[in-house]
Amino acid sequence: MDKYQEAFDGIIERDERVEPRDWMPDEYRKHLIRQVSQHAHSEVIGMQPEGNWLLRAPSLRSKQVLLAKIQDEAGHGLYLYSVAETLGISRAEMLQQLHDGKAKYSSIFNYPALTWADIGAIGWLVDGAAIVNQVSLQRTSYGPYSRGMIRICKEESFHQRQGFEIMLHMANGTPEQREMAQDALNRFWWPSIMMFGPHDSDSPNTGNAMKWKIKRESNDELRQKFIDKTVPQAEFLGLTIPDPDLKWNEEKGSYDYGEIDWEEFWAVVKGNGPCNKERLDHHIKAHKDNAWVREAAEAYAAKTEGELV
Ligand code: 3HC
Repeated sequence: MDKYQEAFDGIIERDERVEPRDWMPDEYRKHLIRQVSQHAHSEVIGMQPEGNWLLRAPSLRSKQVLLAKIQDEAGHGLYLYSVAETLGISRAEMLQQLHDGKAKYSSIFNYPALTWADIGAIGWLVDGAAIVNQVSLQRTSYGPYSRGMIRICKEESFHQRQGFEIMLHMANGTPEQREMAQDALNRFWWPSIMMFGPHDSDSPNTGNAMKWKIKRESNDELRQKFIDKTVPQAEFLGLTIPDPDLKWNEEKGSYDYGEIDWEEFWAVVKGNGPCNKERLDHHIKAHKDNAWVREAAEAYAAKTEGELV
């Protein structure tokens, strides 16, 4: 084995971090570009369902909090695009892959936010699931990704609290509000646990991801962690999780849960979810409409660069 591969294997073995200037196998680089760019796309597309509720937030405070959360998500997208750029892909290339349907983003964002309680369910469940996944990714082997996750996790917990607060308010509100909260849980529960990806046995990327310590826990391990953490929260809210097979398994020390509808999952991943077209059309239009901002920023950078030299 050549000395470069040996050095790389040593970093992984010693649980140290691979840095942009380190030699790395092409497959490792490609795997990270795929995962990190899709993570970034998810953060940015994820702003759409929430953005649709900014003008309809029920109070000035809830509007301020939602706006702060959405701005955070934009920042998370920027951190992650910057991480991917350290691996040698340009922002333009990543966005082209998204627009051409060659790059994915999280399936969860292809579901509509129909009521204000959905904004609560998104913060509580979607950001809750993202936290479980991202806390684990803080220990990922690629340095810039790990450091980006540490920064993102600090903000993510505010997002989850924001959603849970909305759910608590509505679950303790009028019968109509309670019903709205239950309806949001009914529609967002299963898509939220699908966020963790296919079962480990059906996951083509998990093998390498674990070998290279890009993933530190598998899809099913993280899904189970999220379910075990969230069920007591639903009980506290007095809401019912829409899974008749959900049952505490004393022996396992965690919850058994029903079979996920993988047909629905793959249909949404392949572009046939309720909002896939709307989300992508909106992103493409915004990218086109705001080309002038990018051009102005690039022109300014080129001009000031000239002055600085
Ligand atoms: N939505 C869309 N595609 C999904 C998916 C989902 N929920 N779960 C899996 N997939 C795709 C994978 O991307 C892969 O396709 P690809 O090879 O073309 O990329 C295929 O299904 C098989 O899945 P694998 O499990 O083999 O793929 P991974 O090993 O990459 O695991 C993952 C999938 C767990 C999502 C992993 O990529 C990951 O941890 N990514 C980083 C976290 C992330 O992207 N989270 C998305 C949500 S971000 C968010 O919620 C923001 C918050 O602020 C709200």
